[in-house]
Amino acid sequence: MKYPYQIQNLDQYYSDYQKSIENPDEFWGSIAEHFEWHETWNSVVHSDFLTAKTIWFEGAKLNITENCLDRHLEERGNQPAIVFEPNDPNKPSQTLTYQELYDRVAEFSTVLTNIGIQKSDRVCIYMGMIPELAIAVLACARIGAIHSVIFGGFSAQSIADRVIDAQASCIITCDGAYRGNKEIPLKPVVDQALKLCDTVSEVVVFKHTGTTVNMTKGRDLWWHEQVNEIIEVGIPWEEPERVDAEDPLFILYTSGSTGKPKGVVHSTAGYMVWANYTFVNVFQYQPKQVHFCTADIGWITGHTYILYGPLSAGATTLMFEGIPTWPDAGRFWDICQKHSVDILYTAPTAIRSLMVFGDEPLKNKDLRHLKVLGTVGEPINEEAWHWYDDKVGKNNAPIVDTWWQTETGGIMISNLAGITPSKPSFATLPLPGIFPVLMDENGKILEGNSVSGNLCIAKPWPGMIRTTFGDHQRCIDTYFSAYKGYYFTGDGCLRDEDGLYRITGRVDDVLNVSGHRIGTAEVENAINMNPLVVESAVVGFSHDIKGQGIYAYVILNKEIADEEMASNLRIQILRTVSEVIGPIAKPDKIQFVTGLPKTRSGKIMRRILRKIAEGELNSLGDTSTLLDPSVVESIKLSRM
Ligand code: WTA
Repeated sequence: MKYPYQIQNLDQYYSDYQKSIENPDEFWGSIAEHFEWHETWNSVVHSDFLTAKTIWFEGAKLNITENCLDRHLEERGNQPAIVFEPNDPNKPSQTLTYQELYDRVAEFSTVLTNIGIQKSDRVCIYMGMIPELAIAVLACARIGAIHSVIFGGFSAQSIADRVIDAQASCIITCDGAYRGNKEIPLKPVVDQALKLCDTVSEVVVFKHTGTTVNMTKGRDLWWHEQVNEIIEVGIPWEEPERVDAEDPLFILYTSGSTGKPKGVVHSTAGYMVWANYTFVNVFQYQPKQVHFCTADIGWITGHTYILYGPLSAGATTLMFEGIPTWPDAGRFWDICQKHSVDILYTAPTAIRSLMVFGDEPLKNKDLRHLKVLGTVGEPINEEAWHWYDDKVGKNNAPIVDTWWQTETGGIMISNLAGITPSKPSFATLPLPGIFPVLMDENGKILEGNSVSGNLCIAKPWPGMIRTTFGDHQRCIDTYFSAYKGYYFTGDGCLRDEDGLYRITGRVDDVLNVSGHRIGTAEVENAINMNPLVVESAVVGFSHDIKGQGIYAYVILNKEIADEEMASNLRIQILRTVSEVIGPIAKPDKIQFVTGLPKTRSGKIMRRILRKIAEGELNSLGDTSTLLDPSVVESIKLSRM
């Protein structure tokens, strides 16, 4: 497969960028011609940022899985589509060719139709990182059902919240998953979640770990039995559903500055074009290369750069079930060697966690195949960037620092590997179609170079968020209201003297812990559910490996007698957070306090709490407007 729209050199980047901004209809229209459509579009893009309404490829009809599977069969039916590396390095890896993946997806989409799932129904998927997760996702897309993948680390309560919000009728799960030396139960968590919600009528369970699980009669179905039935009865495979360009492809829940995660909705055609275009250009993918994105499919990075981007481009995508440090810190490098990985795409937090082990795990690992390295999810510090460049890439593989968000569908600001310049800790330049604007607090556009402000995007792009599920006003309020006529990212950003962009981090109450977005309000709500807690305030602090850690200030309804009691209480609070959200949201530090710094109107002054968490005790700024300035002194004294 050739990619006629793959940018070949710096001049072409500038000229394509120019074209994309001056004439987006022509630019994206000609790229879209390289995909499979049942009906073509009447117009390329209509957009109104004030009402958050954007339509790409209006009138077109397609099925995204035909673009990811069917169209590759003739030319590369026998090429690996998915290479699966299991958690346990002693177990064999698995390969699914394009033909095999096509067969399994067509088969499983028939299972879904057979059990009554229809176009536009919402299907939640709660599985480990196994090929069946990819099959489940694609099978939903094949029949036009809307998938909502829930990260395998989320709690029963979090699943229930998402099921209820999406009004999902089906959950696809597996008995359990492996994670390093642990076996994680999944089906039992779904069982617990389903006690808290009542919209789900079918649960399809894939047998992976083989542990015993309870199957509820009339509701729970074994994946393999359903597939066998299709084969035995000889039910013909379902034809792919022809959906409208703007029909939703998936919902993915993400944290914001309020307590409740939002269901970010992506459409079909625009997302497909954007996933493919960004994949082919940023990583400069060449046919037959092996692309290894280490993200989990529970997050947007997995959706776009394990599944839809690579598969729509006919690439070989590697799925890994385990963790970077088990059985040892050489696991990534073993995988790269074993599968001759060409492109490695991971998170700064993973790089930092491996740096701790020094160079030893890299010794005798053959990484000569690596041609492109990528990072995503959080700012990368220069030290980690250089380690990645020196030790992993041997100064011979360009690093792409890719900035984007769940809401943007794909990469927005990044260098293009080997084509545009890179600069440590800089995402560098916008992709064609992306028009970044920096704003000051008052909504004034900051022109020119060497400026810092809030990052907004001025023009529509194909992969942008279409709505927040079930609540369009929330989409308008969150993204299109702070600066009228612009999409607001929630990130702070610097444009340097050369016009290169550097993302400096969130400017709202969203933390980025190990590359995962977590709202402070969400963690506070969870802590407050513990019956002993009166009130809490959560802030982020710099953490060597996680990027940001979670620091919680908690007021209890009882006095703490001694350190032992305090430590027991901390354990209880951590358990509550795990139950309400999941282990990823557990605070690193919990400080018990008797009061919080509040303004006279009752607003918590987080700025002060952030400084204390960082240990900047002498630069707290003006505290005279506080209702009770003395609480600050007592918080400083008992700082963790
Ligand atoms: C942050 C992940 C700096 C940013 C794809 C953004 C980054 C949030 C980078 C989105 C990067 C992502 N440099 N910061 N290269 N990439 N971020 O929705 O704060 O999980 O707003 O999407 O991660 O996180 P999300």
